[in-house]
Amino acid sequence: METEVLIVGAGPAGAAASALLSTYGIANVVINKYPSVSNTPRAHITNQRGVEVFRDLGLEGEVVKNATPQHLMGEHVYGTSLAGRELGRLRTWYTHPHFKAEHDLASPSAVCDLPQHILEPILLNAAAARGSSVRFNTELLTFTQDDDGVTAVVKDRLTGGRHEIRAKYLIGADGGNSTVVEQLGLPLVGKMGLGGSINVVFEADLSRFAEHRPGDMYWFIQPGVGHDGNGIGVLRMVRPWTRWIGVWGYDVAAGEPSLTEADGVRIAHQLIGDDTVPVKVESISTWAVNDVYATDNMKGRVFCVGDAVHRHSPMNGLGSNTSMQDSYNLCWKLMMVLRGQAAPSLLDSYREERLPVAKQIVQRAKKSDGLMPHLFMALQLPPASDAQALRDALDALDAPTPEATERRRAFDAALHATIMCFNTHGVETNQHYTSGAIVSDGTPDQAAPRDEEIYYFATSRPGRHLPHVWVTRDQHRVSTFDLCGRGRFTLLTGINGAAWRDAAELVSKRFGVPLRVHSIGRGCDYEDSYGDYQTMSEVGEDGVLLIRPDHMVAWRAASATEDPEATLAEVMAEILGR
Ligand code: FDA
Repeated sequence: METEVLIVGAGPAGAAASALLSTYGIANVVINKYPSVSNTPRAHITNQRGVEVFRDLGLEGEVVKNATPQHLMGEHVYGTSLAGRELGRLRTWYTHPHFKAEHDLASPSAVCDLPQHILEPILLNAAAARGSSVRFNTELLTFTQDDDGVTAVVKDRLTGGRHEIRAKYLIGADGGNSTVVEQLGLPLVGKMGLGGSINVVFEADLSRFAEHRPGDMYWFIQPGVGHDGNGIGVLRMVRPWTRWIGVWGYDVAAGEPSLTEADGVRIAHQLIGDDTVPVKVESISTWAVNDVYATDNMKGRVFCVGDAVHRHSPMNGLGSNTSMQDSYNLCWKLMMVLRGQAAPSLLDSYREERLPVAKQIVQRAKKSDGLMPHLFMALQLPPASDAQALRDALDALDAPTPEATERRRAFDAALHATIMCFNTHGVETNQHYTSGAIVSDGTPDQAAPRDEEIYYFATSRPGRHLPHVWVTRDQHRVSTFDLCGRGRFTLLTGINGAAWRDAAELVSKRFGVPLRVHSIGRGCDYEDSYGDYQTMSEVGEDGVLLIRPDHMVAWRAASATEDPEATLAEVMAEILGR
């Protein structure tokens, strides 16, 4: 069997790669060693940059139809159990009115809650419909590479037979126990198996506890494993308000527990705080928290994406999103190299661009994990406290005494500090690049005016994400994002930018690379009806933004140059390595 790209793994990273390559017209085979897509919900949070990948693929409608929307995600209640005492609340996922505006201004797409077992089929169905060969029960055993391609030996797990797949490139999207990373010998930093968690997926109608305070996670302080024997259990909504995951810890040092259905019911009831609620357990599984990133993500013709090269806790919901974005970064580059439009050196920018992101998100998730134990410290709970000790500590919070005032202050501060486990809009939206596929405009770097982990920094500086603004055509509004992407470079210019249009036509012919051009302004292809593009573009009416297929600003010019064709040709040659 021969193909252009072999993708190992059909999780969010591999399924996204397969959907993108098929959409770009690149032949690909995706293999998954298991018989189906993820059979448990796992990742849920699909952030704006994640949804934008679906939007570019024409699949955002499917996401919106199948996901729980933002307004049902944001009330994170802290308490003793779902039916028990409330200790405080956070407004997460940008549902606080202040943050809602920041969120809405950053993107045409909204964060949503899309369980992984629903997300994966959306991508894989599109991939298959657009030409990908999707093969389940097929396991990568080994591979070798030479100057022209990669030869993989795979096992058909139904028949036990082995065969070879020859591809020009291989993408290792094979998750946290990646065979591809191991066989490539990519260096990993950090530790696996730091903390153990039990996931109980169950059905129960919890509407009467959740409907009036809708959130996707409810957090409960209870005696148990965690920080010195004090635990935090979570009820994680899968479908409002009837399907849930109960998350509870186990001691990794004691080994993986063997759990029965009765244990699942017990854990669910303990988190609900009412054992009269009917609970139907669907599955019980265990997982471990990791804190690992690779310091290289490619070798020769093999590239690794997703959890294969960054493994971390679910805090901040960065896992599946970053995994899909790795593929979004890589696939247009593979397409252009395979079509002979770019030199193979363009592929080196995958390393330069995504390695810093992998490190950043792993470190962010670890920092977030570290915020939870402060709740126990503030309560001054003794190690391994029992139910009575916990009740006493919580009762102590209510006392009208100076000592209790201090405790209240410390506890409330610890609770509100955990907002950084959820609201890191900047971490999600500010990923930016310095690489051979970004050309400087010669202006000095500009510091973000606000905390870059929390707030989105909208700028059209090369290496940053194209800012979203609404523009209009025939009275209908579209996002600047909708003018770009879909596997092509785009030039956005203004009313006086005709010279860039002419230049684009000539450069496109010379390089054999499609260059789409849109003008924005009064009487242009798109009207800047709200006047936002003029401000956000940071270039004049005769200036230009060059946008990569992944919506990143590749280069910009504040105004017309003496010879726009020569300028643009030079920029494209640098990016494409030609
Ligand atoms: P993933 O592990 O999903 O997929 C790997 C694929 O490779 C699978 O299809 C597997 O079968 C296949 N494979 C492996 N070895 C193979 C071989 N040798 N041959 C062929 N196929 C092979 N993230 C997030 O963003 N938000 C969230 O809310 C959460 N929540 C969450 C909860 C829990 C309990 C867990 C365990 C994880 C999360 N995550 C998360 C993390 C998220 O699930 C994770 O980051 C993504 O699944 C990673 O996607 P990948 O595609 O990289 O790997």
